[in-house]
Amino acid sequence: MRDRSGDGQREDPQDRQPGSAQEYERIIITGCGILGACVKEVFPGAISVDRSSKTRNHRNVDMTDPAAMSALLGELRPEVIIHTAAMTNVDACEQRQDEARRANVEATAWLCRWAVKHHARLVFISTDYVFDGEQGAYKETDDVRPLSVYAKTKVEAEASVRALLPESQYLIFRVSATISPYGRDWMLEALREGKPIQATDEIVTPTYAPDAAESIRIALQNQLSGTYHLATSSSLTRYALARKLAAAFNYPTNSISEVSGEIFWAGKAQRPKNSSLDTTKALKQGLIIRSTDEVLADYTARVQGR
Ligand SMILES: NC(=O)c1ccc[n+]([C@@H]2O[C@H](COP(=O)([O-])OP(=O)(O)OC[C@H]3O[C@@H](n4cnc5c(N)ncnc54)[C@H](OP(=O)(O)O)[C@@H]3O)[C@@H](O)[C@H]2O)c1
Repeated sequence: MRDRSGDGQREDPQDRQPGSAQEYERIIITGCGILGACVKEVFPGAISVDRSSKTRNHRNVDMTDPAAMSALLGELRPEVIIHTAAMTNVDACEQRQDEARRANVEATAWLCRWAVKHHARLVFISTDYVFDGEQGAYKETDDVRPLSVYAKTKVEAEASVRALLPESQYLIFRVSATISPYGRDWMLEALREGKPIQATDEIVTPTYAPDAAESIRIALQNQLSGTYHLATSSSLTRYALARKLAAAFNYPTNSISEVSGEIFWAGKAQRPKNSSLDTTKALKQGLIIRSTDEVLADYTARVQGR
């Protein structure tokens, strides 16, 4: 059982601004992982849902169980569903494809149908892995070509959202290699212990979970709809990111070596070489897009302040 704490107090209804996302009185967040926990910080009155977290304002329900979900949503009657929960282990999805489909596709389609019937807004979290990584700097309108089972399930889930809900009722946010003050940061632990680290040459635009969470709040407040990329403004290799992380925490960088993604993931699910996201559309709409250096400074302060 995970013990994910950190959710704040319920909001004071008097703090609600007219027309703001805080006007939504009933918000459900599926998933309380490294992104969901940050989203919950931004919506302290929301109820989160997953199978194992132990935290305040939280229910343990399996989202692939329609009867349990129906009972929960019938009781809570959310006006907004922020759907972050997913089977996120890319290699496990390759090995357990039926489970991946149930969690990532069928549960999402079920939530869409509930949202249509009950006039709720749905925020769906997708991934940079919808792209094949041959081009990089992907815009929202670029063609998807998923390489792995995980990525295929997210593409299918996106398609369900677009097919089942009118555009005004949904937001799809594609996020990328996520940096979060919640959960374990394996890289940081290895750096702290001086263990050798291999980091790949895959190019990414990391997503800072607190910024993504705040962007979701702004998007709901401003009644945005459609698909957006939420990531940092600068693309870099995972190796360069590991070195920046080490430098931000004043750890030596000589324990980090670069390895080709093809070699590192040999025999595992295929990953895109360059899945960097173009965030121009999100920036134009006033969503939070910062540089990797800026978010690492914030991340360092949060981790050191714990
Ligand atoms: N992390 C990344 O680098 C990254 C990159 C691109 C896109 N994304 C996307 O971002 C979203 C959030 O991912 P994350 O990084 O926060 O993942 P995470 O830390 O692995 O959290 C996933 C959450 O989903 C819950 N969950 C999984 N199966 C469930 C089920 N059957 N019923 C109820 N809850 C279930 C998990 O809790 P239980 O297991 O306790 O149920 C957990 O709370 C996902 O949609 C993911 O595809 C993440």
